[in-house]
Amino acid sequence: MDYLPAKYHIWLQETNRRTFVARRKGQVVALDSVCLVDEGSTAVSEGLRVAPWERGRGITRLMLDHVEDFLKTEFPAVKVIRLTRMQDPPSSMLYKYRLLHSKAVLSLMFKAEEVKEKVQVLISRMEKEGQCFQPPMTLGAQDVMRVCTNQTVIEKLLPAKMLIQNWLPVYPLKLNLDYLLTKGVTWMADNSEEPNMLSLGNPAVRVPLKGSFHRADIDLFGFDPRNVKIHFLSQLLSISKEIHDGGLVCFLIMEKAVFPTMDAFCKDINRFVLLTEQLVLEKDI
Ligand SMILES: CC(C)(COP(=O)(O)OP(=O)(O)OC[C@H]1O[C@@H](n2cnc3c(N)ncnc32)[C@H](O)[C@@H]1OP(=O)(O)O)[C@@H](O)C(=O)NCCC(=O)NCCS
Repeated sequence: MDYLPAKYHIWLQETNRRTFVARRKGQVVALDSVCLVDEGSTAVSEGLRVAPWERGRGITRLMLDHVEDFLKTEFPAVKVIRLTRMQDPPSSMLYKYRLLHSKAVLSLMFKAEEVKEKVQVLISRMEKEGQCFQPPMTLGAQDVMRVCTNQTVIEKLLPAKMLIQNWLPVYPLKLNLDYLLTKGVTWMADNSEEPNMLSLGNPAVRVPLKGSFHRADIDLFGFDPRNVKIHFLSQLLSISKEIHDGGLVCFLIMEKAVFPTMDAFCKDINRFVLLTEQLVLEKDI
C-alpha cells in the first residue's frame, strides 16, 4: 500500500519540503521527508522508511537526528516536529512525542468495476432505514478558505483544531490551506458556511500491490454518523470516476465515536486489514 512511488517526484518539486535519503555502499537504505507548515514553525515528518534488511540497526535514529540537526541549522524558526503514524507505535516513541489526537481507520477493498454498484446498495440500505441520501456540496477554493478558518467550524469539527489531509496534520491557517489546495483534493461539506460535516477525498494513487491496485484515503471530519455515511459514499463515487481497472483500497479515516456505526454499515465490503488507527504526535525541538 506504499504511496511513496506516486508521491516521491511531486515531493521533490515542493519548495516547502526537504527530502533525505541514507545510503550504505551507494545503495539507498532509508528515506525521510519534512514539510514546513504552520507559517514555518512546524516540520511535519512524512514517509520515513528503512529498507527491511536494515531495520533495528540504528539507521532510523541516525536519520531522525540528522533531520533534526538540519532543521535547527537551516530553519531555526521550526520549534515542533509533528507526524502521523498508524497504530501501536513503539513505546520509545510515546515517551518522546505527545499524542494530540487519534482517529479510527476503516480499510475497504473493491474491484474497480464494482464500486458504483456497492455504493448504490449502501444508498438503498440508508434509505430503507429511513435516512435520506442528500449529496453534499463540493467546495471551491474560496469556500475552503472561509469554512476552514471559521472558528465555530474549527471548534465543532476539528478536535485537535487540526486538519489532517492524507496523513498531513496542519492547523487551518491560510498558507497551509493554500498548500492543501494544490493537492487535487475533493473538499465536500453539508453547507458552505458553517458545516456539520467536512470531508477530503484524496486523489487515488497507484500502489505497487500485485494486480494493479489504487489507494485512496478519505478524511472525514464530523460526528453525526448519517453525515459520515453520506460523505463516505459521495467521496467514493467521486473517486470511482478516476479508476477504470484493477482494485481500489480505500482508507476511511474518521472520529472513533462514529467507527462502530461505519463498521456495521460497511459489513458487506471486503476488508484490507492494515491500518486501524491514525495517531497525530508531536515533540518540541
Ligand atoms: C518505521 C521504521 C522506519 C522503523 O525502523 P527501525 O530501524 O526498525 O527502527 P526501530 O523500531 O529500531 O526504532 C528506532 C528508533 O526510531 C524511532 N521510530 C520508529 N518509528 C518511528 C516513526 N515512525 N517516527 C519517528 N520515530 C520512529 C523509535 O522510537 C526508536 O527510537 P530510539 O532510538 O530513541 O529508541 C521501519 O520499521 C520502516 O521502514 N517501516 C515501514 C514504513 C513505515 O511504517 N514508516 C512509518 C512512517 S510512514
